Order: sequence, then C-alpha cells, then structure tokens
Amino acid sequence: MTVRVPAKVNLQLSVGPLRDDGYHDLVNVFHAVSLFDELTAVPAAGLTVTVQTAPGSRVAVDGVPTDDGNLAARAARLVAGRLGVEPAVALRIRKAIPVAGGMAGGSADAAAALLACARLWDSPDEPLLSRDDLLELGAELGSDVPFALIGGTAIGTGRGEQLTPALARGTFHWVFATADGGLSTPAVYAECDRLRDAQGEETPWPEVSEELMTALATGDAKALGAALTNDLQAPALLLRPSLRRTLDAGRESGAIGALVSGSGPTCAFLAESVEHAAELAAILDVEGVAESVVRATGPAPGATVI
Ligand code: C5P
Repeated sequence: MTVRVPAKVNLQLSVGPLRDDGYHDLVNVFHAVSLFDELTAVPAAGLTVTVQTAPGSRVAVDGVPTDDGNLAARAARLVAGRLGVEPAVALRIRKAIPVAGGMAGGSADAAAALLACARLWDSPDEPLLSRDDLLELGAELGSDVPFALIGGTAIGTGRGEQLTPALARGTFHWVFATADGGLSTPAVYAECDRLRDAQGEETPWPEVSEELMTALATGDAKALGAALTNDLQAPALLLRPSLRRTLDAGRESGAIGALVSGSGPTCAFLAESVEHAAELAAILDVEGVAESVVRATGPAPGATVI
C-alpha cells in the first residue's frame, strides 16, 4: 500500500495566547504544495521503519528517527490499537519534504501511515475507521497531521487541528529555499513567547485575514503575496539570522511574496507564473543563499493512495 502525501506552507500563521496545555491557539491557514513524500506499508513480522531520500530529491534524511520517535511508527501503532491487530508492518518512507524544515514533513509521513495502515488492516466492506476517525487519530499525533490528510487550502484553528476548507481559485507557483539543518518547532514557539514577554503586551486573539481569503478566492497571486504573514518568522530569524539574507535575495529577485515557512528554516517565495518561478529558482540557486532550491505548485491534494 503506497500513499503520496504533500508538504505544506502556512499562508497565515497567527499565534494566539499560550494555553494551559503548552500549545497556542492559532489561526493557521495551511496550503498543501506539490512536494511529496511517499510511504509504502508492507505486511511484515514486526514494525520497522526505513527512510530514504526520494529519487530526484536532495533531502538529507540522516536525522530522521527509525524507532517510535518517528511519527509514522506511532501512527501505525495507533491504527493497529484501534483495529485490534498487531502492528506488523514495514514502513518505507521516501522523502522529498525537507526534514525539520517547517513544511510538516514528519506530520505528512504520519498522515500517510494512518491512511496506508487503515487500508491494509481495516475491512474494505465495513470499515471500522471512518475518514473522521483518521482525522481524530491524526490530531492525537500532532497539530499538523489532520491537514496532511485533507490537503488543499484550509483554515486551522484550535492548535491547528480543527480544519475548515478555504475557497481557493487557480494554481499558485512557489519556490522553496531549504537550509542546512532544521529548526525545532517547540524552540521557535518558545522564542516567540520569550519575545512577547519581553515586549510586555497582551497577545491578541488570532483572526482570519480577510485580505488573504479574498486573494485566495479570486486567485490573485499578487494580493496573496502581499497578504502572507507568519508570527513565527521573527523568532525563527532570531534563532537563524542567516535566513534574513535568503528572504532578501528572494524579494530582490522579484518574488511577489516571501516568508519563512511555518517554524522554518525553509523560506517560501511566491512567483507570478511558472516561468517566473523557474527564473526565481535559478537566481536563488546562483546566489548560494540556500542549501537547495525546489519549485512546487499549490494547492495540492492531501494523502492519496497511489
Ligand atoms: O502538535 P505538534 O506535536 O506538531 O507540536 C509541536 C510543538 O509545537 C508543540 O510541542 C508546541 O511546542 C508547539 N505548538 C504550539 N502550539 C500549537 C502547535 C504547536 O505551541 N498550536
């Protein structure tokens, strides 16, 4: 059973107050892009995980755990537990989504494992696990996992796991600049809290950007570029100051939008057309401001059996 699952970029990431459970209430506008991991689940004697770089990709996979630290392994155990079967499966992951890059690659693999294992073990005629059950299991694994199941463009609230699809017209052209080494999501959130404490202002309740919703609904790339926001960008730049140069290089090369993707360190640039994206990618490559430069379009479909 092989499942293909997309990366995401956040078009709006508004971080609200810190909650008692350690998470933040968010407005998180997720947008799936055509950069895919593939996960194959094969019946085996026990649970194993192997991770490789996808053909044609340059993603470094050395840091990816192959034990229960891998969210895909935990997803397989969760599905097995619900269905009352042994988690006897070999999970083979081929990664094209940057690792710890702010593009939800780990969450994507977990979503792929949920879907692949459910298809492997559940009854095809009378399934015990509905799509909503998988979304719920996804939310148990991580805030970004449910979105990787549905894909497209969606507004996430709560800690990001409560999803409402957003109306988006047309196709948007993106260029992603990856960085050497990842950034830890909890560390970036903690830096965000520290910055806010230092400023001493009360954190406002996050609201969906009307400007962003209109840009999406009308398919207006320029307006979308102008409406992109990410509250984790400032803390990510403090933790990784070299990203400023990457963002500046993209802006100076004509990107109509530039921001850190999620908690970083991948930087996302919006282009006006497929040709503009190719041009922008070539310039960023030559300038040497990224570990690698990849192009993708959005929105892309969520986890899909292939
Ligand atoms: O849910 P997930 O495990 O992906 O979250 C990783 C970390 O990101 C959390 O441990 C928390 O530090 C931070 N986070 C947060 N608020 C959210 C989502 C994530 O503080 N809404």
